Amino acid sequence: MGFEKKILCIGAGYVGGPTMAMIAHKCPQYRVTIVDINPDRIAQWNSDNLPIYEPGLDKVVKEARGKNLFFSTEIEKGIRESEIIFVSVNTPTKTFGAGAGMAADLQYWDKTARQIREHSASHKIIVEKSTLPVKTAQAMERILTINDNAVRFDVLSNPEFLAEGTAIKDLEDPDRVLIGSRETPSGLKARNELVEIYANWIPRERIITSNIWSSELSKLVANAFLAQRISSINSISALCEKTDAEITEVARAVGMDRRVGDKFLNASIGFGGSCFKKDILNLVYLCRYYDLKEVAQYWEGVVKINEYQKERFVLNMLNAMFNTLAGKRVCLFGFAFKANTGDTRESPAIFVAKRLLEEKAELVITDPQALDNAMRDLEGVDGKVSFNEEPYVAVDGCDAVAVMTEWDVYTGLDFERIYRSMAKPAFIFDGRNILDHKGLYEIGFNVFPIGKPALTHF
Ligand SMILES: NC(=O)c1ccc[n+]([C@@H]2O[C@H](COP(=O)([O-])OP(=O)(O)OC[C@H]3O[C@@H](n4cnc5c(N)ncnc54)[C@H](O)[C@@H]3O)[C@@H](O)[C@H]2O)c1
Repeated sequence: MGFEKKILCIGAGYVGGPTMAMIAHKCPQYRVTIVDINPDRIAQWNSDNLPIYEPGLDKVVKEARGKNLFFSTEIEKGIRESEIIFVSVNTPTKTFGAGAGMAADLQYWDKTARQIREHSASHKIIVEKSTLPVKTAQAMERILTINDNAVRFDVLSNPEFLAEGTAIKDLEDPDRVLIGSRETPSGLKARNELVEIYANWIPRERIITSNIWSSELSKLVANAFLAQRISSINSISALCEKTDAEITEVARAVGMDRRVGDKFLNASIGFGGSCFKKDILNLVYLCRYYDLKEVAQYWEGVVKINEYQKERFVLNMLNAMFNTLAGKRVCLFGFAFKANTGDTRESPAIFVAKRLLEEKAELVITDPQALDNAMRDLEGVDGKVSFNEEPYVAVDGCDAVAVMTEWDVYTGLDFERIYRSMAKPAFIFDGRNILDHKGLYEIGFNVFPIGKPALTHF
């Protein structure tokens, strides 16, 4: 059977894999190929053991794989054969040269653009899926049209709003899909072509279109706003701890105002993930570039509060455990940056683990999905660390538990059993406010939530 369209995605990561699997799943009339420079990653996508954990992903991939969904390392062939190319390579924060620590590192992006130019012999629509600084599409267009290349390209911006842990649900039923284009006849035609793809399963009114610069900027701003809510509530959690106010009560009262809303108001140890920090820093860098000093400072504050919150958590632990952690065993419940993912990029747990090791604590780390990544993250770090997937075994003999990730499994544990197996006095630092603090206190624990009075027996 011939396919109606041939779609390629360059970059088989947390975004490329699930988004393309969803298109293939919803549109059997299209052939979807995902390519990557990393052969191990492609081999995993072709195996029973997918490279990322995401609820529901296995089923979607396995149903379409080999029928109209293909994973491959043949990038050039993929480019030659496709009509629409999504680019979802990584765009991390630059670690060198001008803008180091803040600007986006566009080297992977640049390489991809050149590769597309070199191997294209017919008109193609290029779709930016990666999160990029505003005006990247212009740079892409310039690279693609260098040497008076006879081949015509239309570049679209189609930022991805999925959240890890709920990617499949988000892709199946998104709040919105955003497509930005040049407002020229060929730009609008390309935009419509992409709208038609999404319209296979998403209601038209949720597919919104805009000019290409608004689209690029909207993604950075969406992440900045989400992270800002977390930093806002976390900043108030510090004040609650000083004033005997309770952060959950404050959040409830504030969130019930319909103008504010109740989402993203859980105080915690801080946000993580590969995107929030990098995208805000990217926004800050753009503002500085355009000489908007006050705007840059405003958004930088969101990142600073996040760093402060993580450090505050460690200092609270130190203070509560009689100002020394040396030789004490601390069990970290969770290492992923949030529940339902194995991803640990920028996880607050990395910061906490390293700081606790500096204080010469011994760590035992448990997590249902993220232990391989945790081992890699802590490779070469000085100090005693062990890993155990089974929380009851991990916590045995420990002085303290620190909840790093809001995995459901931790709320259902038998804490009487855990208390019996721990050294005394036993401490719990609930970095996600997911446990029953009063119940734990009654069992005998000294309990330290975020933004609420501690419950202690001394
Ligand atoms: N992870 C998220 O939740 C999320 C959500 C929305 C948007 N984004 C954005 O999407 C982009 C991708 O993020 P990710 O989390 O999927 O990253 P990732 O690191 O998981 O995946 C990127 C993949 O691109 C591959 N790659 C890099 N250069 C390549 C090249 N020249 N040719 C072929 N493959 C190449 C890498 O090997 C890697 O497998 C980023 O810009 C990110 O900001 C991420």
